[in-house]
Amino acid sequence: MIVDYDTLAKTIAALTDGESDQIALMATISCEVHHSDDRFDWTGFYRVTEPELLKIGPYQGGHGCLVIPFDRGVCGAAARTGKVQLVADVEAFPGHIACASSTRSELVIPVQNSEGDIIAVFDIDSDQPDAFTEQDARSLDLILKDVFAR
Ligand code: SME
Repeated sequence: MIVDYDTLAKTIAALTDGESDQIALMATISCEVHHSDDRFDWTGFYRVTEPELLKIGPYQGGHGCLVIPFDRGVCGAAARTGKVQLVADVEAFPGHIACASSTRSELVIPVQNSEGDIIAVFDIDSDQPDAFTEQDARSLDLILKDVFAR
């Protein structure tokens, strides 16, 4: 099963309409995205809870590490730089945090609010190597902007 981003975006827009609680929004997005595509083995948010620190938010999949400083891992790099991290091979990424040894590739997208502050990162991990495309990054980024920067 491969995601249909038009349908996914419409579903998420309908489900989150009128809701502003960030945890409720993150839980809904994690669930909808996770179940939309077989490539996605861990799908969830790390939230910026204090300066330079990410803490686990709503997710789907196996256990996720609870705390990630900005200077560690792929999630930390996304939060630190404000740039999408598309990692085709996690073994080649210095400082990658292996919450699950099955993870081979990942996509991490910074999440901004309407003021442009980074409030979280959205992390998708795959057990398949090189699982993600620039199109995945663009489509998911639009969905996140629609929900969190509206
Ligand atoms: N992929 C992350 C760690 C979090 S987990 O894999 C759920 C990273 O290296 O930033």
